[in-house]
Amino acid sequence: MIITVTLNPALDKTAYVDAVRPRALNRLRDVQLDAGGKGVNVSSMIHALGGKSTAVGFAGGGAGKELLSLIAQKGLYTDFVHIIAVTRTNLKVVDNDGVLTEFNEPGPHINSDEWGALEQKLAGLAVKGNTVVLSGSLPAGLGKDTYKKLSAVLRQNGAAVFLDADGDAFKLALENESDAIPDYIKPNRFELLQYFGVADDDSILDAKLVELCRSLLEKGVKLVVLSMGEAGAIFVNKGGVWRASALPVQVRSTVGAGDSMIGALVYGFANALPDEQCFALAIAASAGACTTEGTNPPNRSLVDKLLEQTRIERIA
Ligand SMILES: Nc1ncnc2c1ncn2[C@@H]1O[C@H](COP(=O)(O)OP(=O)(O)OP(=O)(O)O)[C@@H](O)[C@H]1O
Ligand SMILES: [Mg+2]
Repeated sequence: MIITVTLNPALDKTAYVDAVRPRALNRLRDVQLDAGGKGVNVSSMIHALGGKSTAVGFAGGGAGKELLSLIAQKGLYTDFVHIIAVTRTNLKVVDNDGVLTEFNEPGPHINSDEWGALEQKLAGLAVKGNTVVLSGSLPAGLGKDTYKKLSAVLRQNGAAVFLDADGDAFKLALENESDAIPDYIKPNRFELLQYFGVADDDSILDAKLVELCRSLLEKGVKLVVLSMGEAGAIFVNKGGVWRASALPVQVRSTVGAGDSMIGALVYGFANALPDEQCFALAIAASAGACTTEGTNPPNRSLVDKLLEQTRIERIA
């Protein structure tokens, strides 16, 4: 069983205006609501591939209710903790030129009882054979070591952990002992270099990136997937290193491409696909995700078509 965790989900509100005018009344039209959250995106991708997962997180107030109903409409299973504070609503305004202006709320405060309820829920779900995906930002009230602590508890219970986070939350989780560290991580290029405190420039080539990924394996991480947007991805585990180019697709939105990649990977693991097939599925699914609006996942038939074009090359 796959469990995705979204600690700071949002009700995404997208609306349209002719032009965004500061210091003036902007009348919005065609307001659309969607369930936002990286774990929810991962669950959507798994569902699109024909797999099952349970999305876990916090939801509160009217926005929380709306969020849960939108997730249910996608056909996903949820097991959220209800909180007192109200789930955030993020406003995305698109003008006639297609330019996006975003207004993001910080998110509700999580109190200690609510955190306890989530921990208990996850401890119950995290049994051997299950994979728990931890992704996205942390809400107010939770420490930066939240993923570090969760990873330890989940792994102690026998579950495998996939972490997709950045900044301190990512850094602290990688400080765990090897039996408590996340099993799988998917930094993008920016996140990997930020972790190592290396300034990005064009002189940093694949060989250097592989070296950095390998040093994370030494800490106990079993697989590092380095995603590099339109430059493709590198997959590094104890058994070798694989490289794949991104597929040429008609791009509509690359938001959530990384989440689709993770959904495809954990779907592949859950179905005991060989490593290279998991990597290929990740490349095809994430390319497919770029062809859809917003964070919508591609359908299975498109992923299968893209899979035929996917080449995974073993480089070490
Ligand atoms: N323009 C593109 N064309 C084809 N595939 C793409 C493109 N952009 C991204 N991808 C695919 O998606 C994968 C993940 O993309 P990226 O590295 O941008 O993730 P990310 O930065 O974590 O994104 P997010 O956090 O928004 O989900 C890439 O490794 C690649 O396989
Ligand atoms: Mg990402």
